[in-house]
Amino acid sequence: MSVKDIFETMDYGPASESPSEATAWLDAQGRSFGLFIDGAFTTPGAGFETRNPATGEVLATLTQATEGDVATAVTAARTAQQGWAALGGPGRARHLYALARMLQKHARLFAVLETLDNGKPIRESRDIDLPLAARHFYHHAGAAQLMEVEMPGRVPMGVCGQIIPWNFPLLMLAWKVAPALAMGNTVVLKPAEWTSLTALLFAELCHKAGLPKGVVNIVTGDGTVGEMIVKSPVDKIAFTGSTEVGRAIRAATAGSGKALSLELGGKSPYIVFEDADLASAAEGLVDAIWFNGGQVCCAGSRLLVQEGVADRFLEMVKARMDTLRVGNPLDKCIDMGAIVDPKQRARIAAMVSGTDGDVYQAPCPDGCFYPPTLISNLSPADPLMQDEIFGPVLVSTTFRTPTEAVALANDTSYGLAASVWSENINTALDVAPKIAAGVIWVNGANMLDAAAPFGGLRESGFGREGGPEGLSAYTRPAGTPRPLTRTSAFTGTETAPAAVDRTPKLYIGGKQARPDNGQTRGIHDPKGRLIGEAPVASRKDIRNAVEAAHGAAGWSAAHGHNRAQVLYFIGENLSARADEFAATLERMTGKNGTEEVALSVDRLFAAAAWADRFDGRIANTPLRGATLATRTPCGVIGAFCPDEHPLLGLVSVMAPAIAMGNRMLLVASEAFPLAATDFYQVLDTSDVPGGVVNILTGPHEALAPSMAEHMDIDAVWSFSSAPLSEVIERGSAGSLKRTWVNDGMDRDWTGPEGAPDAFLEAATEVKTIWIPWGA
Ligand code: NAI
Repeated sequence: MSVKDIFETMDYGPASESPSEATAWLDAQGRSFGLFIDGAFTTPGAGFETRNPATGEVLATLTQATEGDVATAVTAARTAQQGWAALGGPGRARHLYALARMLQKHARLFAVLETLDNGKPIRESRDIDLPLAARHFYHHAGAAQLMEVEMPGRVPMGVCGQIIPWNFPLLMLAWKVAPALAMGNTVVLKPAEWTSLTALLFAELCHKAGLPKGVVNIVTGDGTVGEMIVKSPVDKIAFTGSTEVGRAIRAATAGSGKALSLELGGKSPYIVFEDADLASAAEGLVDAIWFNGGQVCCAGSRLLVQEGVADRFLEMVKARMDTLRVGNPLDKCIDMGAIVDPKQRARIAAMVSGTDGDVYQAPCPDGCFYPPTLISNLSPADPLMQDEIFGPVLVSTTFRTPTEAVALANDTSYGLAASVWSENINTALDVAPKIAAGVIWVNGANMLDAAAPFGGLRESGFGREGGPEGLSAYTRPAGTPRPLTRTSAFTGTETAPAAVDRTPKLYIGGKQARPDNGQTRGIHDPKGRLIGEAPVASRKDIRNAVEAAHGAAGWSAAHGHNRAQVLYFIGENLSARADEFAATLERMTGKNGTEEVALSVDRLFAAAAWADRFDGRIANTPLRGATLATRTPCGVIGAFCPDEHPLLGLVSVMAPAIAMGNRMLLVASEAFPLAATDFYQVLDTSDVPGGVVNILTGPHEALAPSMAEHMDIDAVWSFSSAPLSEVIERGSAGSLKRTWVNDGMDRDWTGPEGAPDAFLEAATEVKTIWIPWGA
């Protein structure tokens, strides 16, 4: 018998990692845990059991935090926050570095504990979760070190409530805790109820590493504890989990002034072109959908394969599935471990049962395990092609052309991630930017790194984690916000204007349009004289404007250079009519308008300058060396303009947003709308394509719900002096559109707060494209 024969006939022998260190640690805690608040563990209270899903064995009992516990944790975090921030970036960096070292020194204990509690293969917890968690703390130690240099004028949010899921218990903790601490925040974190043990071990190590008390607080419990955190007086909520809960949190925090980031589910396409290296693509699919049993928010769960190679590729995938080993997660040779909990297993099984597709399943042991599954021949609209399964189930369909591949890839309510496989650089780099997702891997899958922003579009949530883009979500501009007072229109009794009757209209799709309901409202000067009539827009006009804005999608595809030309042209034309606009402003507001017009022209020129200059960057990721973090337009943005500074406010909001390629619905100052209705004449003469800017006038409070709830608007902003923040944030929960609201606070439109900077960031999405670079 040759050596080759021996290898080929050798029986597979399990190679189990020893659980002894982890069980010794659990025993030392009496297998019963309290909460970690203000630097110490509380006495364990009434709670629930946490089990090893692979065996059903009870590992420990955990405490269900009460309302009082959450309040104490938030107070501890609040008390600690100023001292923590006052340590300065370099001071905090030392602590983050110490935590990174702690994770590395105890990597084996953490990895085994994670595998026992979650059921994921030790190979993954040891080689992926732990190194990435440590990398997060190292990278963010650097972010803390450089904060004062790299982020001047930014200060911490304060106290952050963080709620994380069960699929990457320690890694998600690292994603949340490291950037928050780096930026000078303190945290109250709730791990998922099925997988809290590594968070509790982390808490112990925070204590051992000398982290000041109250900086990290860990409260355990189910979703009701999550709800308590959401309601508590924290400054920011960072959530990762299901879209359904994300929506509930959006609604619950509406109008509270709390910052929010949501990292939700996905149904990410895995696109294989016929010129792909099929063997690599089949292997990549194992990482895409069978990594962590498919319980991955960015799992490549939707295979789109080009028709010509579909049969061959599916055969290769099936052959590979047959060799996947499913079983004891502690076995170092296991590819797929247990599903996190019998309830999750039942959820997966229920979704798959009764499918019309062709089901192929690999072998799998009994118990809380689910076989690697491929379901082919599904139509794009099939629920299994649309809904997140969150298990080891791949669904597949075919396409013919790259255009069809992009259309199918984007035919989803989600927008988290995608993989594109082609050996042709032209195909891969043509298709990747066209996919509506926050993260795209070219010839790869599920690559994650602390330096690369991660996060979604659409119902996959908003906000980014990782890289500098993730840090801004944990900071705010320095300074004390000033409350905004309501601006009222002047009133009067005249019914006919003194001058020539020129009734302005709405501006929709590049044309003047009468309001759908035919209504207008008299606008009076400070002395009560009627100076004009302004149309009163309604829901129907918003719908028309959205349609027009969607029709102008070409603007988003135009190059920044071309958009800059249009913005310069608007600036020139406004400048040519400066005296006329200054007079209108003075007539409406009673204040000299000369400076406002001059500043508006400046803003247009500044936005034009940024149009081809507000770039993304290249993230220095260890896996690939160069990952593109590109900036793409949000899409269609609805904005309620400030009431004060009726021209400058509108221009300051509009110019950066269109510079970045967005199309806009602008609701003009409610009290002083006539500068806006004159401004559309400037747009008309400046080569602005119809539908790029749509201008409506009318009562802000009446229009806000329609704008917030509209399913085809991508973002809604409010700088109105009317109290719109709550209605906009609540209404946005349906489609999870982005919101930017003033929470009743003022901006200095004439100063740096009116400059393009913040608007450019809010007007763009970061799209992270992992390209093969030296790979
Ligand atoms: P979930 O969204 O209910 O749980 C995530 C976290 O939120 C947990 O810590 C949970 O205790 C907490 N939570 C639950 N309800 C809450 C509420 N009302 N307010 C505040 N916090 C709350 O996810 P679940 O039930 O564990 O899984 C359900 C489905 O969600 C999965 O089948 C999967 O489709 C999806 N999911 C997606 C994840 C992702 O990373 N995108 C992660 C986990 C689940």
